[in-house]
Amino acid sequence: MTTKTHPVDQQSAIAQLWDQAASGWNEHTPLIRAWLQQATDALISCANIAEGMRVLDVAAGAGDQTLSLADKVGAGGAIVATDISPAILSYAAAHAARGGHRHVEICVADAESLPLDDARFDAAICRLGLMLMPRPDRALSEIRRVLKPDARLAALVFSQIERNPCLAIMMRVACKHAGLPPADPYRPGSLVSLGKPGRLAGMFAEAGFRHVVATRLPAPMILPAVANYMQFVQDSAAPIVAILSRLDPAARARAWAEIEDELRAFSTPDGWSGPNELLLVTGVT
Ligand SMILES: C[S@@+](CC[C@H](N)C(=O)[O-])C[C@H]1O[C@@H](n2cnc3c(N)ncnc32)[C@H](O)[C@@H]1O
Repeated sequence: MTTKTHPVDQQSAIAQLWDQAASGWNEHTPLIRAWLQQATDALISCANIAEGMRVLDVAAGAGDQTLSLADKVGAGGAIVATDISPAILSYAAAHAARGGHRHVEICVADAESLPLDDARFDAAICRLGLMLMPRPDRALSEIRRVLKPDARLAALVFSQIERNPCLAIMMRVACKHAGLPPADPYRPGSLVSLGKPGRLAGMFAEAGFRHVVATRLPAPMILPAVANYMQFVQDSAAPIVAILSRLDPAARARAWAEIEDELRAFSTPDGWSGPNELLLVTGVT
């Protein structure tokens, strides 16, 4: 038997998942910033963000990349940071207020149905959000709708599963311990759902974006020890935490211990280096 989930239930489940992971994701902002620094610089540069622009940040989370955008557009520009989770977005609001960024506006919204007028933005970015959406094609159409003509969208997602072995290990071991069949890594909403070569670029084109370009970006996570990575994923990797949440505490601890054992394979003489690869896809309206 298959159970169909109504889209509204699905979206509120996603919002709840990220509400729960919000404080963890926020607390690990320094680690996330260091891990994604080069990719974020490339994202902002490929979206052609410049001073004075009005920019949409989709699935903004705790707002790390929002603040980089705010600096880039300056006080004469404007950023609208959107996310489906009110809790995680409240951190973005707090960081923007603390940094004196009055030109950052916060908007709780599902990217698949943006409560924003047509043709309002000069550019848009989305960092590690699109792959988590059940219908990223709808999100792309919505983003295109709110962009002005000749504006750019730049999005970062995880690339294919073979190039993200830490994610592969976590998903495999988590499903095994939760008694679930091995999950298709490319199912909608999974961490690498848009990682197959050509998949996201094709979706950009179908949504009407022109001049679509996809670039692979290596993004290893370099940490003092595997224990630091374990802390990060246990606090903030909402999709993995959700799979293991069905286990009792002892069984959950066994699952995490097995994940840690396998991830130790990436220990180096200097610490720990988890391979990751991202895809940066850009398009023009
Ligand atoms: C991995 S976090 C990335 C957050 C932030 N962009 C960053 O890179 O730090 C994924 C974010 O996507 C958001 N998200 C998931 N589905 C969404 C949807 N349908 N609409 C808007 N945001 C969504 C989650 O709430 C979460 O904040």
